[in-house]
Amino acid sequence: MARIITVTSGKGGVGKTSISLNLSLSLASEGFKVCLFDADLGLANVNILTGIYPKKDLESVISGQFSLNDIMIKNYQGIDIIPGSSGVEKIADLTQTQTGTLISAFLDLEDYDYFIFDTSAGISSQVLSFCMASHEIILVATCEPTSLTDAYSMLKVLSKYQYDCPVKVVINQVTSGKSAQRAYAGLKETVKKFLPIKVEPLGIVASDKNVRAAVISQTPFFLLFPDTIASKCIKTITDKLINKAGQTGDMPLEIFWDKCLSFLETHYKPKKEPAPQKEPVEETAPVQEKKENHPQIEKALLHIELKLSSLIKEVGDIKRFLEAHTFIPKKDNEKALALPEPKEISLDFESWLKRNSK
Ligand SMILES: Nc1ncnc2c1ncn2[C@@H]1O[C@H](COP(=O)(O)OP(=O)(O)OP(=O)(O)O)[C@@H](O)[C@H]1O
Ligand SMILES: [Mg+2]
Repeated sequence: MARIITVTSGKGGVGKTSISLNLSLSLASEGFKVCLFDADLGLANVNILTGIYPKKDLESVISGQFSLNDIMIKNYQGIDIIPGSSGVEKIADLTQTQTGTLISAFLDLEDYDYFIFDTSAGISSQVLSFCMASHEIILVATCEPTSLTDAYSMLKVLSKYQYDCPVKVVINQVTSGKSAQRAYAGLKETVKKFLPIKVEPLGIVASDKNVRAAVISQTPFFLLFPDTIASKCIKTITDKLINKAGQTGDMPLEIFWDKCLSFLETHYKPKKEPAPQKEPVEETAPVQEKKENHPQIEKALLHIELKLSSLIKEVGDIKRFLEAHTFIPKKDNEKALALPEPKEISLDFESWLKRNSK
């Protein structure tokens, strides 16, 4: 049984790998047994941050060539690391035998207190399957509007699949407490208004030049600069995480994989089409237009939702301010505070699309 935590984001480069790795080391320093799963499909980031380049990865476990223990990086500064890389891509398309091999590989592993999945950027089927199978998700975002919009997109997709545990949010690369608070409050407000999913703050990590220095020297900042501000933030997040133990419960790893693979099976594997009927089709029959997803329109709508929610919040703030600071005779009170009739707002949708599709 382990606490399984998937670290994700909408946007890339926001600090998932930094947080996954340093959080794992911090948990290990508290005496917990931690396994970090590098689930990045493309560039295996954990390797870059640690300077360790393993020759084998999860793919050779799926093919039955090696066991997990063979491919694992054992005891890197107190944690074990599983290099997922190309094997992670394979999990979206496993045969029944390979599924069995993968699940039983995890049965052979020793017990861990924490199993942390560092995922790649974007909402791929694999990333979603890891999220949906985890009891705990850490969603990393920065204060940048694009990062927050993408974090919201991720939450929207999770709620579409009815993810029902609160998602823990970490705001990274923070330059001021105020901006982090504003970013989190904006995200929470929008989520509360539009999505059936809960978010809760887990913490912030300050923007710290020592993080970059540690990347260059390929040593995690938590080890290289234990007293730097980013390490202190990681320590605070660790304490909060530890104190939340028991809230969501541990899970056996094989159940995690089972959930993960059934999610992919249900939502991503092509369903077998029934055999086409051989009735002749009239040539003049009207061609039905195919419905397609338009990611740019989806993004534009998200942008509008976010803008709308922050406007509603601002109006509320102004109203509260006026109530507190303006003396209005009682009987005129309601009339004076009533909002003007909304005018028709023309949203310059086309130029927004142009700006955002570059
Ligand atoms: N708190 C921080 N302060 C300063 N720089 C940071 C901080 N966190 C991350 N960075 C910088 O951002 C870069 C990207 O971080 P990281 O690789 O962890 O992001 P990621 O979300 O894992 O990216 P990807 O989506 O590509 O996997 C790092 O190389 C580091 O230089
Ligand atoms: Mg990464």
